[in-house]
Amino acid sequence: MAADFRSDTVTRPSAAMRAAILEAEVGDDVLDGDPTVRLLEEEAAAWLGKDRALFVPSGTMANQVALGAWTSPGDEIICQRWAHVTTFEGGAAGFLHGVQSMTLGGRDGRMSPEEVEESMRPDFIHCPRTALVCLEQTHNVAGGVVIPMAEVEAISAVARGRGVPVHLDGARLANAVVASGIPAPDWTAHADSVSLCLSKGLGAPVGSVVAGDGDFIERAMRVRKRLGGWMRQAGLLAAAARVALAQNVGRLALDHALAREVAERLGKIEGLSSDPARVDTNIVMVTVEREGLTAAAVADGLGQHGVQVMAMGPQVLRFVTHLDLGADDVQRLETAAVAVMG
Ligand SMILES: Cc1ncc(COP(=O)(O)O)c(C=O)c1O
Repeated sequence: MAADFRSDTVTRPSAAMRAAILEAEVGDDVLDGDPTVRLLEEEAAAWLGKDRALFVPSGTMANQVALGAWTSPGDEIICQRWAHVTTFEGGAAGFLHGVQSMTLGGRDGRMSPEEVEESMRPDFIHCPRTALVCLEQTHNVAGGVVIPMAEVEAISAVARGRGVPVHLDGARLANAVVASGIPAPDWTAHADSVSLCLSKGLGAPVGSVVAGDGDFIERAMRVRKRLGGWMRQAGLLAAAARVALAQNVGRLALDHALAREVAERLGKIEGLSSDPARVDTNIVMVTVEREGLTAAAVADGLGQHGVQVMAMGPQVLRFVTHLDLGADDVQRLETAAVAVMG
């Protein structure tokens, strides 16, 4: 089998997850409620420090449910320039909810509280209403970086000071929790809604949650229904997701250590550059610096040596570590990269 560094979404469910699926008690979640979904929602809400959570099929739907719950057509959201919600969700904010995005900052995933403040629309009939500020933790395109707490606090304070709610795209919040040692509720205290993916580093086959207070969840349930995301005997999926949340948070530290190892080893190969000091979590960005050689060509070459990776830009490769990768795979990657870079 290839060593697959493309994403932390490629993991296969563990034996414990498969056993939990077989044993799961289920019901029609739409008609009477599914008991296993209910348990997952309660456990996820408690982990996130929010009143309630809803189970949805994907991280994209979790974010879009939140956008639908907070906005009306014609509104504007403020988010980071490379945020998943505006970059990789197929234009859903505009298509589904009729909102436009004001995007701030650069490739480092950051936006300053001052920029956010400056971008808030005045209450003026010519302007859209600023309806939501979105944060992303960890930031994917920036390379899995943990946005510092001081910045999260300051941006949230600016938004809330203007009566604007904050949504936290916490697809990989568990990675930020482990890397920073700051518990999830301390991060989510600065957000009015939060999404969390169980199917990324935590290893569940399918599913995310979106969490918030009771009023938010009442609105979110309607949006989830509208998007077709309210599933029937979804306890089968929730059962695996419960195992993911119960068993796989602490071990993310292993993925982070492995990612630093990837950065160290690849950074030493002539023509590639990566900085282990910039690896906060499980994502490593590697720049191809040899003239005439593209990231796509290097990815192809690695593929021929049984190592899969994604090009994230003309010169940038993204390596992601996860449950199904270990030291042997990093060795295989290094050997392959040495061969490809010749
Ligand atoms: C930061 C972030 N948010 C949301 C998502 C969407 O998750 P999904 O692929 O489950 O729709 C991703 C997926 O990679 C992501 O990286």
